[in-house]
Amino acid sequence: MSEYSALPVPPMSIRFDQGAGTLSPEGPTLTRRMSDLEGLFRDSEAWAAAVADGDPIVYSVVSSPVPEIDRELPQSITTIQPGTTAGELWMTKGHQHPNHQGEIYLCISGHGGLLMFDGTETRWVDMTPGTIGYMPPGWAHRSINVGDEPYSFLAVYPGGAGHDYGWVLEHGMGQRVLAGADGLDFVNYVEG
Ligand SMILES: [Fe+2]
Repeated sequence: MSEYSALPVPPMSIRFDQGAGTLSPEGPTLTRRMSDLEGLFRDSEAWAAAVADGDPIVYSVVSSPVPEIDRELPQSITTIQPGTTAGELWMTKGHQHPNHQGEIYLCISGHGGLLMFDGTETRWVDMTPGTIGYMPPGWAHRSINVGDEPYSFLAVYPGGAGHDYGWVLEHGMGQRVLAGADGLDFVNYVEG
């Protein structure tokens, strides 16, 4: 008997409705509000004020039914809303893969960026529709909306990669990305 015979999901096609931001069939959906991003923005008072002022949705992640287990290849669509908090562009929490596995993001719509940090060096990949950003094993990653409309991207990642959010709280991301008068301002993460 093939060792693949016990796959929990069969071969399938998954439709993405770009307008609705939904997958069909769909798996879990994750909604991250401002309150979920505690300790991540440079200006904690501005963060707290945003939480008090309606606690807006910063981003959402819709997943396919492919499970997050070893040897599977799950996918998800993340949509980050446009906005800033004390100038810092809205972003995902960012995470490291505990088992140091690679991942790709494909920009679907909007304008974003992929910030990567390996604990020493920082890398930035500008993301526009059609761009594939590659995260090698060992590079923590955070996505940031740098435009004025929602930024959406497809993530494809090893099912056993995991999400270590605490790594970013402990190590930072090397740099922060702020909306400047003439474009993006990159500042040291530890500053402020
Ligand atoms: Fe990841």
